[in-house]
Amino acid sequence: MASNPPSPVERPDLGGPFPEHLAVIMDGNGRWAQRQGLRRIFGHREGIASVREVTTSCARMGLESLTLYAFSVENWKRPRKEVEYLMRLLRRYLVAERDTLMENGVRLMGIGRLDELPADALSKLRETEELTRENTGMVLRLALSYGSRTELADALREAVADAAAGNLRPDDVDDDTLRGYLYDPQTPDPDLVIRTAGEMRLSNFLLWQASYSELYVTEVCWPEFREPDLLAALRAYAGRERRYGGLIDAKPPDRGSEKAV
Ligand code: FPP
Repeated sequence: MASNPPSPVERPDLGGPFPEHLAVIMDGNGRWAQRQGLRRIFGHREGIASVREVTTSCARMGLESLTLYAFSVENWKRPRKEVEYLMRLLRRYLVAERDTLMENGVRLMGIGRLDELPADALSKLRETEELTRENTGMVLRLALSYGSRTELADALREAVADAAAGNLRPDDVDDDTLRGYLYDPQTPDPDLVIRTAGEMRLSNFLLWQASYSELYVTEVCWPEFREPDLLAALRAYAGRERRYGGLIDAKPPDRGSEKAV
């Protein structure tokens, strides 16, 4: 089966830069379902169709990384039946999407406190990560049992252990040291964070990594967010001027030499 990016890459002309890394807070599943007179879980089920369309579109456009906020550490507090449904959906998704991921050269990986997932969902995640490991196209990161504060706490715990073992000295610690302890230090910071369903917050998502991300909030709920909505967000990004605390030609603080303020 194909394990390379689909060719040729079909990148639309947006009249400006295209992001390398897009991150999405997929919100509004419940509200969308309730508006249709359905139970909340139907919103999650329809949300899978949006995940498939956005993932495939992004891969075909040659995006390097896509991070989807699929389940937060706070989501464990939802009613048991909804959590069980989401975990069943995840398990099914991780098997049913394998052909699509392979056809589009997508490498899937999980980030978060993955050990907190039910054993069957975790094993499907590990199998899909393994199956797609050699794919050279887009990296699709599913944030699962993810929270930024827990990511930073996990990073600090590891750093303290390294310090106690004599492998880390206070003078050695800078931004890059901290990055090295995050769940996935290799993927560059998101250039653009999209949030669906209108709310203006980051909800404990990539707080450190999104320091200089452009934010785009749409009223569209996740189950109805499709390629035209994605293109609208990418067009808005193409028109943004990124200064990283410097002047117009400034580079991102982790990639360039300018000092951000
Ligand atoms: C927020 O909607 C969405 C979630 C809590 C989960 C996102 C999950 C999916 C899109 C489906 C599963 C995805 C994968 C990849 C298996 P909400 O329920 O908070 O909506 P509301 O704010 O309208 O209540």
